[in-house]
Amino acid sequence: MPSAFRLDNVTRRYGSLRAVEEVSFEIKRGEQVALIGPSGSGKTTLIRLLNAMLSPDEGAIRVFDSDLDTCDAGELRRLRTTLATIPQHLGLVPTLTSIQNVILGQGGSRGTLRSLRDLLFPSRADALEIHTILDRVGIEEKLYTRVARLSGGQQQRVAIARALFQHPAALLADEPVSSVDPARARDTVKLLGELSAEHGFTLCVSLHDLALAREFFPRLIGMRKGRIVFDGAPDELGEEDQRALYDLSDEEMMADA
Ligand SMILES: Nc1ncnc2c1ncn2[C@@H]1O[C@H](COP(=O)(O)OP(=O)(O)O)[C@@H](O)[C@H]1O
Ligand SMILES: [Mg+2]
Repeated sequence: MPSAFRLDNVTRRYGSLRAVEEVSFEIKRGEQVALIGPSGSGKTTLIRLLNAMLSPDEGAIRVFDSDLDTCDAGELRRLRTTLATIPQHLGLVPTLTSIQNVILGQGGSRGTLRSLRDLLFPSRADALEIHTILDRVGIEEKLYTRVARLSGGQQQRVAIARALFQHPAALLADEPVSSVDPARARDTVKLLGELSAEHGFTLCVSLHDLALAREFFPRLIGMRKGRIVFDGAPDELGEEDQRALYDLSDEEMMADA
């Protein structure tokens, strides 16, 4: 499989702090990867590097067939439209309806005027497609409901629908399930994996919950203090690795088990 993302010795600093340090890896097209690691380990920064919203201070990033270093503004714009991102707090507009939020996701590729028109008067084709997508993610009856009136789990599904409507080559989700109960979080993570398999898009999800990452992802990339400390299959992640990731003492490991 050709690669979706390729990082070579990537470092990104904030002032003197190295949020991501000398990170190298490759994610193949269609792969499903969970980014794990404690808070502050660099997951969000890494996701923003992958979706070309941040540029590295050092190192090279290749996304699909483009070198982020050398691509021009037009190519970068085109690239960003193929990378759907679900940001940590979903980035929905609460006063707008589900369908409007989903349409807004294509703003980047349609131009301002057309987006505004589509937002106010969705075409029949768009409405039909969005209806099908909302049906697939299980909230088809919420098409015309304002997002503010939806539950946390339903809002996650609107954010997923918005990403799907972009027909992405890759979907990057930053702790998409941090604000709901465990059962709903599990459903949402499972759904993301199924959609990636159905549509063939590359999936990269940062997750706080290690158990969920292990259950649903064939590959885990573990970060700590900006560096990669683990990259492998869930069954390769031993106790030592978990300790290295989360710096847990023996007692904490025992209490966790
Ligand atoms: N905009 C920023 N300005 C300064 N420091 C930042 C900024 N964003 C993140 N950081 C710092 O970079 C490090 C990594 O943060 P982040 O990528 O958000 O980690 P995570 O998503 O794993 O919690 C943290 O120490 C954080 O405080
Ligand atoms: Mg984060």
